[in-house]
Amino acid sequence: YEGEGGASLFTEEQEALVVKSWNLMKKNAGELGLNFFLKIFEIAPSAQKMFSFLKDSELPIEKNPKLKPHAKSVFVMTCEAAVQLRKAGKVVIRDSSLKKIGAVHFKYGVVDEHFEVTKYALLETIKEAMGSSMWSTEMKKAWSVAYDQLVAAIKTEMKPSD
Ligand code: HEM
Repeated sequence: YEGEGGASLFTEEQEALVVKSWNLMKKNAGELGLNFFLKIFEIAPSAQKMFSFLKDSELPIEKNPKLKPHAKSVFVMTCEAAVQLRKAGKVVIRDSSLKKIGAVHFKYGVVDEHFEVTKYALLETIKEAMGSSMWSTEMKKAWSVAYDQLVAAIKTEMKPSD
């Protein structure tokens, strides 16, 4: 995305940091996704109630098969957002899927605080997965910007579906 004077606010280096770290993490996506959501629920236990598949299930959270796919969506879509930010200067999601995602989050009552907690948990998860040799403030910043822009795009469609 472009800053004043056309300076790129999301650089090729930032895109590379996100893509590289995701490539290292994705073979472990299931386990990471579980850690990621357990962190979210530790900070915000009430968030569990929003997930229909958690509410309606007898299984302990960590055994619920539907948690990992959502966690993976957050990772993958943030990674895709990074690629688009560098290429197109903005987050591009197919109109119909952005509308659907916006409407679903609106319907289930996801609010700003949930997106904030999720951002914190996402960055912590990546930090732990990368270890001190790879994690850096630049990597943190790159994931933060991509996540923030993705969430901003989702929020534009968070309204009642018609
Ligand atoms: C559903 C992505 C953040 C809670 C979904 C779906 C996607 C998605 C793709 C499935 C939509 C469908 O049914 O077609 C994302 C992305 C996020 C994000 C990319 C952030 C960048 C959050 C946050 C929360 C949340 C912060 C709350 C803590 C939910 C819930 C559902 C959902 C409750 C519906 C689950 C159900 O079917 O019971 N999300 N999500 N999401 N998301 Fe998210």
